[in-house]
Amino acid sequence: MGSRIQVFLLVISVQILLVVAFTNPQDVAAISALNDAWQNTPPSWVGQDPCDNNWEGIQCTNSRVTAITLASMNLTGQLPGDIGSLSELLTLDLSYNLGLTGSLPVLIGKLTKLSNLLLVGCNFFGPIPNEIGSLQRLVMLALNSNRFTGNIPPTIGNLTNLYWLDLADNKLKGTIPVSSGTTPGLDMLVNTKHFHFGKNNLSGEIPSKLFSSNMSLIHLLLDSNQLSGNIPSTLGSMQNLEALRLDRNLLRGSIPSNLNNLVHVRELFLSNNQLSGSLPNLTGMATLTYMSISNNSFNGSDVTAWFSTLQSLTTLTTLMMENVGLQGEIPTTLFGLPQLQTLVLRNNKLNGTLDVGSSFNSQLQLIDLWNNSIDSFTYREDLKFELILGQNPFCTGASQNKYCIVEQYSPIYPTQTNNCMSTTCSSDKIASPKCVCEYPYTGTIVFRALSFSYLGDPNIYTSLTNSLMGSFQSLKLPVDSVSLGNLTTDSDNYFVLSVQIFPSGQDHFNRTGIYEIAFMFSNQTFKPDDKFGFGPYVFHAATPTYGNFEGSAGTNNKSSSTGIIIGAAVGGSVLLLLSLLAGIYAFRQKRRAEIADKQNNPFASWDPSKSDGDVPQLKGARNFTFEELRKYTNNFSEANSIGSGGYGKVYRGTLPTGQLVAVKRAQHGSMQGGIEFKSEIELLSRVHHKNIVSLVGFCFEQDEQMLVYEYIPNGTLRESLLGKSGIRLDWMRRLRIAVGSARGLQYLHELANPTIIHRDVKTNNILLDERLNAKVADFGLSKSKAIGDSEKDHITTQVKGTMGYMDPEYYMTNQLTEKSDVYSFGVVMLELITARQPIEKGKYIVREVKQKMDKTKVGYNLHDVLDTAILGTTLGGLEKFVDLAMRCVEESGAQRPTMGEVVNEIENIMRIAGLNPNAESATTSANFDGISRGYSHPYSDESLFVYSGAFPPSKLEPQ
Ligand SMILES: *[C@@H]1O[C@H](CO)[C@@H](O)[C@H](O)[C@H]1NC(C)=O
Ligand SMILES: *[C@@H]1O[C@H](CO)[C@@H](O)[C@H](O)[C@H]1NC(C)=O
Ligand SMILES: *[C@@H]1O[C@H](CO)[C@@H](O)[C@H](O)[C@H]1NC(C)=O
Ligand SMILES: *[C@@H]1O[C@H](CO)[C@@H](O)[C@H](O)[C@H]1NC(C)=O
Repeated sequence: MGSRIQVFLLVISVQILLVVAFTNPQDVAAISALNDAWQNTPPSWVGQDPCDNNWEGIQCTNSRVTAITLASMNLTGQLPGDIGSLSELLTLDLSYNLGLTGSLPVLIGKLTKLSNLLLVGCNFFGPIPNEIGSLQRLVMLALNSNRFTGNIPPTIGNLTNLYWLDLADNKLKGTIPVSSGTTPGLDMLVNTKHFHFGKNNLSGEIPSKLFSSNMSLIHLLLDSNQLSGNIPSTLGSMQNLEALRLDRNLLRGSIPSNLNNLVHVRELFLSNNQLSGSLPNLTGMATLTYMSISNNSFNGSDVTAWFSTLQSLTTLTTLMMENVGLQGEIPTTLFGLPQLQTLVLRNNKLNGTLDVGSSFNSQLQLIDLWNNSIDSFTYREDLKFELILGQNPFCTGASQNKYCIVEQYSPIYPTQTNNCMSTTCSSDKIASPKCVCEYPYTGTIVFRALSFSYLGDPNIYTSLTNSLMGSFQSLKLPVDSVSLGNLTTDSDNYFVLSVQIFPSGQDHFNRTGIYEIAFMFSNQTFKPDDKFGFGPYVFHAATPTYGNFEGSAGTNNKSSSTGIIIGAAVGGSVLLLLSLLAGIYAFRQKRRAEIADKQNNPFASWDPSKSDGDVPQLKGARNFTFEELRKYTNNFSEANSIGSGGYGKVYRGTLPTGQLVAVKRAQHGSMQGGIEFKSEIELLSRVHHKNIVSLVGFCFEQDEQMLVYEYIPNGTLRESLLGKSGIRLDWMRRLRIAVGSARGLQYLHELANPTIIHRDVKTNNILLDERLNAKVADFGLSKSKAIGDSEKDHITTQVKGTMGYMDPEYYMTNQLTEKSDVYSFGVVMLELITARQPIEKGKYIVREVKQKMDKTKVGYNLHDVLDTAILGTTLGGLEKFVDLAMRCVEESGAQRPTMGEVVNEIENIMRIAGLNPNAESATTSANFDGISRGYSHPYSDESLFVYSGAFPPSKLEPQ
């Protein structure tokens, strides 16, 4: 009896041990130090194992802490150096905790795996430690809106994977560091797309070395500093630039003429400097929308001559040219510009007669000509916009004229109509747009370079609300509704919009809901709909209200670090066992690290700059010369261009054998390193399956990286579903496409060697060949930077994928598995039956279908959401198809089927629909549309439905 009890006790203690030993002791100690250093850590931080899944804000993988996301948690205290022990940490988000203060510990440099360091809107001060340059894997570095002082550490130049660098709104001083000798500098950040350094005390000249054509910056914001000297002419080589803010500095000299090369700039702010010379030559800026060059010391320029050279006149919404020495008579055509919203020409020397003409854009809100020399005005009574003419000779004799009275425009910004006036809420609750009293999560969105100035268009707010709701839904965040309002401009001329986000299901968010919403903003995962040109933004959370943490404030039950460690020590023998397990654990970790190291650099011996280096190990793919591909694509002619994106362009080409190919040519800035490119083509060339687009070859020379694929004539599944390709996709065809693409993915997951996770499954990446076979494209692209990456489609942090298709579990944990592809495939299945995009008008397809679905009704009551193109036809197996899609989009990856199971199930569904899953697809011949009538015989002989182009269509007509 006694021995039995002993055995029983031993079993228990071993179980305790397993739990304890499972979290790495070093991580346990570090988290415990954070818990001691901070007030208001989540009340769930109790017990001995931070990785037991219940600790809010902590994520673990293989018993190591990999993410700490505690944005907007009302944390107070300092960041202890112990953070440096979390050596597997990938994400650290402590944004919007105004109580976090003190300096950044230098030990932060030990977090060598960190990819996202987000400390937006805290109260950190002191210098940014040089050790930040050791975080080689950083992709997002956001330290904006703190009180950091000192210089920008030159070591940031070491962070070659950086995508986003935001240091704005601090007290940083000194010059912008550039490399020299062995000292690194920001000019080395050739992959970074965002430099946001506005609102600091940076001084000295903008170093000309900072810019080169190798850089890929799209947003360069240096406004509100004390930068002096000339604008360096190297700035003109930044071909990708879209937003440029140099305003509110001490810049002098004339504007370099090659600024004109910045053909993609949409927002240009040079105002409030001491720039001189003639007005800038902007004839090359074809897509300029917002231009502000007010308050500089330019020489007088003739207004007509200057405007007559601008080709962007058709895109300009806003022209701010106060006090720039303009003279002469304003041409009437200027007021009729098709997009014009605001024209400010105050304090110039414009003269003659003013004739505003009669063709105005309905969004025109202001023409401000205060203090010029205009002596007559072709009077019009009925102007719908504000016209300011005071301090012109014309007004001397006509001071009662209504256009002579107002001195400054004070815009009246629209307020959102609140339908809930009669809803009175108790205490600090607020009525949601649905008139429910709740505690919202609130904050402001600050737009740093809007491309428009007319704010009266309600579509702007609808669009923002919709894209916010769509993002919340696709990330499965518990948000019920969003309310926007109180639009203002702040002292730096940024537009500020307040946001209230209301919880669903209960009247307040729990902690998880809050820090996940906050992370969506701090990590810039949320991107407003690009249609309006919102430009770069930053979110600031308001101080949390008590309601956000209701029921848990003050109940923070701390467990000290000694508690954790002593808790493990149940007895001497147990301790021995513990150290044994820890040893095994450490050994396993070491092995894993060694294996990972090898995998990281299998081609160390290949030097792409030497032509005699190891040639890539290719199966079947050939190495084309640049000359060859130039010939096959007819000198990359526009006529052969079949697509484009952030990576560059795709051209159709014809090989001498007559084979058609698609040549994907990377543009500068999207190129990968030689090693990455080589490993990518090696991977691609190993993949051979009829449902996978195959690689024909590549070209790597002369600053060129090109991938040559087989040409797939019928375009993407998305185009066909949208009816753009002229191909009618009946139910049978959709099932075949579903099974084909599922088989392609199954191959990547189960049979390819090494196995491949696609990471960006979507209808845009499923192509249709001439027989409507589905072919999966664009898979297995390298991690940090991919040749197929397009800025607009992708979250360009280390989480790769497209909003709407992205597995929320992957997004939250960074842990990529095959099941993430299964999730995206589930979304593709829903698209196949609805033809809707995953996020359309703010509605997320997965949620829509779930809400509409009623399993007790025929067809699950989904007729409202089904694609009208298949509505009314017999949809054999539809219910099972929907069931399967729903299993694919289960919250938890473990609950989702594997791709192999998905293939089997779709094959079953095809049999129910009367199709032979193993037969070939139909051709696109129009005659074959007649086949669709065959569905109504689900149990008829399968052979009747063999969709092979070999049969004359008439034979396939059902009797
Ligand atoms: C930055 O890189 C240089 C050389 O690339 C290296 O010598 C230096 O140690 C690095 N600095 C940090 C802080 O990692
Ligand atoms: C402006 O730049 C364009 C293109 O570089 C050039 O053709 C034109 O002559 C320039 N105009 C002036 C006024 O300098
Ligand atoms: C307007 O100003 C220009 C340049 O100062 C001058 O040449 C022109 O004669 C003026 N026109 C009128 C109508 O005063
Ligand atoms: C935030 O923290 C402060 C200080 O620790 C505390 O007084 C306040 O009640 C907290 N607010 C909430 C909403 O928990």
